[in-house]
Amino acid sequence: MPDGAGLDFFDLSPSEESFREAVLAGLARSRKAIPCKFLYDRRGSALFEEICRLPEYYPTRTEIGILEENARRIAGRIGPCCRLIDFGSGESRKARILLEALEDPAGYVPVDISRDHLFEAAANLAEDFPALPVVALCADYTRPFVLPPLPDGGGKNVGFFPGSTIGNFEPKAAEAFLLNCARLLGSGGEMLVGVDLKKEKPLLDAAYNDGSGVTALFNLNLLHRINRELDGDLDIAQFRHVAFYNPAMGRVEIYIESLAEQEARIAGRRFHFDCGELIHTEYSYKYAIPEFQRLAKRAHFTPVEAWTDTKNLFSVHYLRANGSAGDGFAGFGE
Ligand code: AVJ
Repeated sequence: MPDGAGLDFFDLSPSEESFREAVLAGLARSRKAIPCKFLYDRRGSALFEEICRLPEYYPTRTEIGILEENARRIAGRIGPCCRLIDFGSGESRKARILLEALEDPAGYVPVDISRDHLFEAAANLAEDFPALPVVALCADYTRPFVLPPLPDGGGKNVGFFPGSTIGNFEPKAAEAFLLNCARLLGSGGEMLVGVDLKKEKPLLDAAYNDGSGVTALFNLNLLHRINRELDGDLDIAQFRHVAFYNPAMGRVEIYIESLAEQEARIAGRRFHFDCGELIHTEYSYKYAIPEFQRLAKRAHFTPVEAWTDTKNLFSVHYLRANGSAGDGFAGFGE
């Protein structure tokens, strides 16, 4: 257990094996698909940060606005000496807003899948908050995992899941993720979750098809990663980025489309792509506020408060674990 401030780093990062297995299995399916977590290698993470600054991509700046506007109220709900566990911490930009408002936070636990990115961000944060113990955890939080030993604060464990990353899960999986959070956080645990709201299709279509093409680069970077890490020979110019809002399903669907009938070798195996064939890479589900609150309830959380912006683009939910989902720092493997 870390005693005092500084940075501790725990590396449970997924192996290259898991990327290879996911790609080989995903491209062998009749409906090709690769899990979106693999979009976030070093370059993918950097491109995602660039997406967050695009004029069309409203979620990041809107959520930051909501957090800034309500930082004191949120900090008041959380109370003193909390441990803040940040799932998918990225650059920790949003956590900083909370950490500045919180009363004597006992620890900050950034969890991210992108190891180098996480290390840099956590080191920078530890430098800027010299009194705060930082316990960084490189892990795939979509899989069962346990938390490392954390500094004892006497306050709450509060999970932070901003960015509407919860929208990447199918609703059933989002529920399972929250249930596991309740267990990780223990009794008295609370969650702050950023959730993108349902809205008109044109705004959503534009947010995922930006004019400068950064989202396309982000999506197609997956093919570069396959070529580089899995000895692939994909002709990336023969693929394109596709994204659209599906209002019936309440989600943005993101694919890579093959622009020709073609073959490629990846990790020694041959794959065939039809002209127009789609590789699914990401869903981004959107929720109305009561709809997300119902989902949270199914995951044994009580919705306490929800904040939004004046244009009703985005929401930040404060949830309290009911305490019936299990206790202590256990993963859902046990
Ligand atoms: C980080 C998963 C929330 O779905 O809006 C942005 C990812 N993909 N543009 C989102 C993303 C393409 C983003 N999340």
